[in-house]
Amino acid sequence: MNKTELLYTGKAKKMYATETPDVLWVEYLDQATALNGKKKVAIPGKGTLNRQISSLLFAELNAAGLPTHYLETRDDTTMLVRRCAMLPLEAVVRNFASGSFERKFQATHLQPLVPAVHEFYYKSDALDDPFINDEQIIALGLADQATLDAVHALSDRVNTYLKARFAQIGIELVDFKLEFGRLADGTLVLADELSPDNFRLVDEASGRSLDKDVFRKDQGPLQPVYQMVLDRLKGAQHV
Ligand code: ADP
Ligand code: TMP
Repeated sequence: MNKTELLYTGKAKKMYATETPDVLWVEYLDQATALNGKKKVAIPGKGTLNRQISSLLFAELNAAGLPTHYLETRDDTTMLVRRCAMLPLEAVVRNFASGSFERKFQATHLQPLVPAVHEFYYKSDALDDPFINDEQIIALGLADQATLDAVHALSDRVNTYLKARFAQIGIELVDFKLEFGRLADGTLVLADELSPDNFRLVDEASGRSLDKDVFRKDQGPLQPVYQMVLDRLKGAQHV
């Protein structure tokens, strides 16, 4: 299978069509952005690291019976996925207070959040991805209640899997962002990316950030940090 037409250039990936209508070719870019794209830097090696971490975790979730868009890896920076009609939502799950939650509520850093906090953000670069609640989503016609319930349930299952998976390699899963879409037959699946760009990870031994906060907060080079996450995941492979 080969890429045909470039469909979309995003902040972290390029999406191409293939000869097969329901299969997309996803190229992970050597680029990091923060502040909704206002801070943008080229980071050699980042694309292949995020592709490898995403491939590994998507394959594990597929094997565990969680529905995802992932089909197979093509090369260092490329994977094939099933084309989805994406929900225009970012589904954030928080196990511990950090980031915008910590700022908004002046919560204690890494205070446990029980039950895990689910939040939606409306994917709109023009609006800076604002927070949106269930009624707002339904009133705007972005999704119905049954879909939101299914997203909530699937996000919880992903959280349960990933929390245990990272705990096994000495990493605390603080929070993360997921995106969901529907296949042509209507099946809801986990899509987009599973990498330290979209997770907050804390090393249990040192308390250090092992995710894009390193870039957001200028804490040093990002590439060796992502490499360590990949090496630890591979060292205790699950499938
Ligand atoms: P952004 O759009 O935020 O800059 P990316 O650079 O990661 O983000 O671009 C990838 C785009 O592809 C996102 O808009 C995401 O919603 C979309 N996407 C991810 N998985 C799929 C899929 N399986 N089918 C269709 N679109 C997808
Ligand atoms: P936040 O604390 O800044 O709201 O972020 C919560 C989680 O969502 C964190 O793991 C980072 C992730 N995230 C994204 O993946 N993309 C985004 O655009 C934002 C704002 C957060």
